Formats: sequence, structure tokens, C-alpha cells
Amino acid sequence: MCGIVGYSGVKTVRQVLTDGLASLEYRGYDSAGVALWEGNAVTVIRQQGRLSRLVERIGTAHEESRCGIGHTRWATHGQPSEVNAHPHRQGRVTLVHNGIIENYLQLREQLEKEGYVFQTQTDTEIAAALIDSCYKGAPLEAIREACGRMEGAYAFAILFDGHPNCVYGIRLGSPLVAAVDDTGAYLASDLTAILPYTSRYLLPEEGELLALEEGRLSCYDGSLRPMEPVWKQAHWSVEQARKDGYRYFMEKEIHEQPQALRRTISPRIADGLPSFEVDGLPAGFFGRIHKLYITACGTALYCGMVGKALIEKIARLPVEVEVASEFRYRDPILEPDSAAVIISQSGETADSLAALRLLKGKGIPVIAVVNVVGSSIAREADYCLYTYAGPEIAVATTKAYSVQVAMMYLIAILAAGERGLADDQEQRRLVAGLEEAVERTPQVLAMGDEIRNYAKGLKNTESMFYIGRGLDYSLALEGSLKLKEISYIHAEAYAAGELKHGTLALVTPQTPVVALATQPELLAKTVSNMREVMARGGPVLALVTEDLELDPGACDRRITIPGKSGIFAPLLLVIVLQMIGFYAAEERGCDVDKPRNLAKSVTVE
Ligand code: G6P
Repeated sequence: MCGIVGYSGVKTVRQVLTDGLASLEYRGYDSAGVALWEGNAVTVIRQQGRLSRLVERIGTAHEESRCGIGHTRWATHGQPSEVNAHPHRQGRVTLVHNGIIENYLQLREQLEKEGYVFQTQTDTEIAAALIDSCYKGAPLEAIREACGRMEGAYAFAILFDGHPNCVYGIRLGSPLVAAVDDTGAYLASDLTAILPYTSRYLLPEEGELLALEEGRLSCYDGSLRPMEPVWKQAHWSVEQARKDGYRYFMEKEIHEQPQALRRTISPRIADGLPSFEVDGLPAGFFGRIHKLYITACGTALYCGMVGKALIEKIARLPVEVEVASEFRYRDPILEPDSAAVIISQSGETADSLAALRLLKGKGIPVIAVVNVVGSSIAREADYCLYTYAGPEIAVATTKAYSVQVAMMYLIAILAAGERGLADDQEQRRLVAGLEEAVERTPQVLAMGDEIRNYAKGLKNTESMFYIGRGLDYSLALEGSLKLKEISYIHAEAYAAGELKHGTLALVTPQTPVVALATQPELLAKTVSNMREVMARGGPVLALVTEDLELDPGACDRRITIPGKSGIFAPLLLVIVLQMIGFYAAEERGCDVDKPRNLAKSVTVE
């Protein structure tokens, strides 16, 4: 995790670095720091806590500095303290790092024998010492040699004494982008830090080196041969990455779902039929496989569960879904003639990337469903179906989940066609159902007051449950995650029929239960489970689609989901769940966009 930035040019660097870090704060916010070239010396300023504290501390000082590096941290090794904050300095080397050096203890032992003394428990300080010990006056040589001895993942921005106004960069397994404008050269963990200056950028391949020297950018391959930069064009505007008048990014991103969904599905619908031709997925792909593995982490995993339910129901293709951190280590038995789908908003989640590599290594073709263009998962997969959610800044994902789910519908419908289970007419009917649900999403967004009203009552709640059956159960998992991660109310999801096998013992008048009921064939069973809760005094909120009748005695309160019950209801239901989480967190005075202990892009195991 962590965010890094670097700049060399003619502008006052403190502003470039702190603005860049502000847009990267979603990657971690335990501490922040900068290192600035001032004449021939490097000044390091580090601060525990949020970036705003660092900005306050720097104030209007260091006006003359035109080159430097910055970091915003999500602690991995060592407490989130000032001493462990980046940049780290050893000998003549000052650097910032995103990633984990796995063999750092072994390296530490070797470096201690060379006389290095360490102040911190971080792996990064070891990396700085290792690069210093390889430094004989040529920065690129030193980086290359030192990186050859490191195991793990890294993106570095590095300053070398003796090379004022220069920043050097390299990446392996962690993201890094670079760009130039008419004032100088930039590098950063992702585009949001660079977009205010230019939309043209480059993505160094793993092991390639970058040199930002007196405002110029040069690229080198792993053998230090100069390379021509390969420029890419970003299609995200800087405005898209701002709050647009909403109080929180999460709120803005919830409201962006109708456009995000339309942007994602419309290029994949041709003449009313699903098609991934624009993505380069060969026609007939799903007709040739007998099994699909879906693996992902967090919310993306819950999307995978929705995918399994849809694909098995509509296309009768067996699907196994598994959390990537388990899948990668259990030596899975993979069947021939199978394929895999990796779902990831960031495209950088370490466990999902490792699962992808495992699958590819076993010869299983991998389709990535990814939001961030050019990310590691997108690049390493055999095929990539990009979701077009646009930049998502809030740590709690909302619109990125919805567009992933939309992609699951398209995959399921296409697979049904290719496997001979749905003719064109049936596929068109299903696609129309998807489009209709997307068109109804603004109706749910207009229900803010009703949902806020319910959430107000959760202000002092300590614990609650979400229950549902079938697709509603997968959504219950996402709803409870959304609530707990931003409001800190303990929330668990249960398959509605399971509650009575133990957990019902926890239900009291102080434990609200949210019951999801959008699947007509399961309604009667879910209603029985709601009654079981009511009988124990648990307050029940029912989330029910408008076409389903519900005995008023089965719940204390009902919020009606617009549209039809059945397989497309999740797209509308999830917005209500997101809003419950959002308003409850707001009511409890939580930092909605930056929940404690979490980060958006999890590039560690
Ligand atoms: C983090 C985020 C979650 C996300 C998960 C997987 O935990 O906070 O919102 O679902 O990572 O991330 P990915 O980028 O792979 O979808």
C-alpha cells in the first residue's frame, strides 16, 4: 500500500508533493513525509497522522526547493509513528517506498555486518541502506544492483547525495506512473496525482528505471540502456477525481452509479445482445469451457458470489468462487477446459494478482474484470473486461462494485447464449432486464431521506445482522461489510436459514436485523426467518421489491426497492445497502471516506 510522488522541475516542489499526496491519501494515511532538495542537501520532514498535519508543519517554508519526493503511509512493518514514517535515509540515499521487501531481515543482518545502524523496524530503511551500500556514484547502477538482491514488491522514488534536483524511480509488483509537462517531470503511484498537470503519462514495466533530472525524464531498461518512453493518454479528467459539491467521495460515487453502469454495459451490447468483441474476448469462449473459477478479495469477492449465482442459473456453467488469499495457497485442483475470472477494482490487490499468476501458470485462461486501466491484473490477464466506473476515491467501494456486478450479468447472458441455453430472443429479454434495472437506479438514489431516517436510528447500535437467501445472501454480505467498514457498527451477514443455528441467540431488541427479500421463490422462507427474529424482539427492517407482498407482521419497517423482483434486483438493492452504511457512518460522526485501519488498494498479502 502507501502512495509515493516525486517531482523535478521549476515549480516550488512542496506544493506539487502535498497536492499529489492528497490525491493518493486513499492508499494509506497513517503518516506522511517529504524529502526536498535544498542546494546540495536533502531536508526530510515526517509527520505521524494525516497529511494535513504535515502540510501544517511545512507551512510556507522551503519555498526555493524545486525537487523532492513524498509519501503517504499505510503501516506494514512497524507502528504508524514518526520514526517509521517515510522518507527513510541511510548514508547518501533518501527514499520513499510502496510495497514490502520480504527478505528484509536477512538483508538487515548482512548490512549490520557492513556497519549500518537502523533506527526503525521498517523494511524500507533496509532498502535505503542496501541501495547506499551499492552506490559508487552512479544512481542507476546502485538501484539495479540493490533491487537484484531484494525479494518482494516495491515502487521506489529515490534521492542520491551528489545528484541534486534528481529523483530516480523503479517498480516491481507495485504501481508507478510518470509524466512530464512544461515545468518538469513527475512520478506517482497513480494517475490521480498527475492528472492536474497532464493527461499524457507512461507506465514503466517492472524493472525499468526512471530518472527525473533537472526537470527532464529519461527511461532505461533493466540493462540500463536508454529507452524511448511509450506515452499513454488518460481519459479520466481531474474533475472526475474531485468531489463535485458532495460532502464525501463515497456519497458522490454512490450517485455516479447510473452513469458508471451505462458506460460499462453499453459498449458491450450490440443489437440487444451481449458481446465482448470490443474487449477482444474470442466469440464462443464460454461455449468451450466446462468450469469457471472466480477469485477476488473483499467486495469484489462478494460480486463474484453474485456472478456464481447468475452464471450457474442462467448459463448452467459450474462456478467456484474463492477468496484469493486462500485460493493461492491451497494448491487448488484445477480442471481442464476451465477458465477463470479475477475481479478487482484497483487491479493491484496482491492476493488477487498472485491467484492470477497461479492460474496462468497452470495454463488456465484468465479474464480480468478491472477498473484501473493499465494496472497489474489488467496487464497480466489474458483478457481484460474494463469496468468504466471512473476513479473511485472513497475507501469503501460502491460504484466499482455495481459495475462489476453488471459485468457478471453480461458474462452470464453471453455464456447462456454460447452454451445453447438461451436463444437470441431470450438473451435480448435478459439484456433488456439489465438495462431496465440500470435505468431505475436514479429512483433508488432519490430515496435518500427515507434511508437516512432509518440510519439515524442506528446511531447507538453496537451490533446488527443482515439476512437473505440466494442472491439476497450475497448482497447481505456486501451490505454488512459496507456498514461495518465505515460506521464501525459490528455487522454480520447470514444466510437467512442459518440464523437459527446459533446466531439467533444474539438477537435482542438492541440488535437490528436487515432482511433482504427480492427473490420471489425464496420470499416465504425468508419471511419465516424474519418472524423468528421478530419473536425474539429483534427489530426487522425488510428491503423488499415493490412487486412482492409482505405480511406487515413480518417486520417493523419496510423500505421498498423499485422495480421487479428477481435476478436484476441486486443492482437496485445494493444502492440501498450502500446508503444505509453511508448515512449510519455520517450519523455517528465517522470519517466516511477514510475509515480507520483500512486502505483502498491492498498491495500486501
Ligand atoms: C480493499 C478495499 C475493498 C476492496 C478490496 C479488494 O480491502 O477496501 O473495498 O473490495 O480491497 O480490492 P480490489 O481493488 O481488488 O477490488
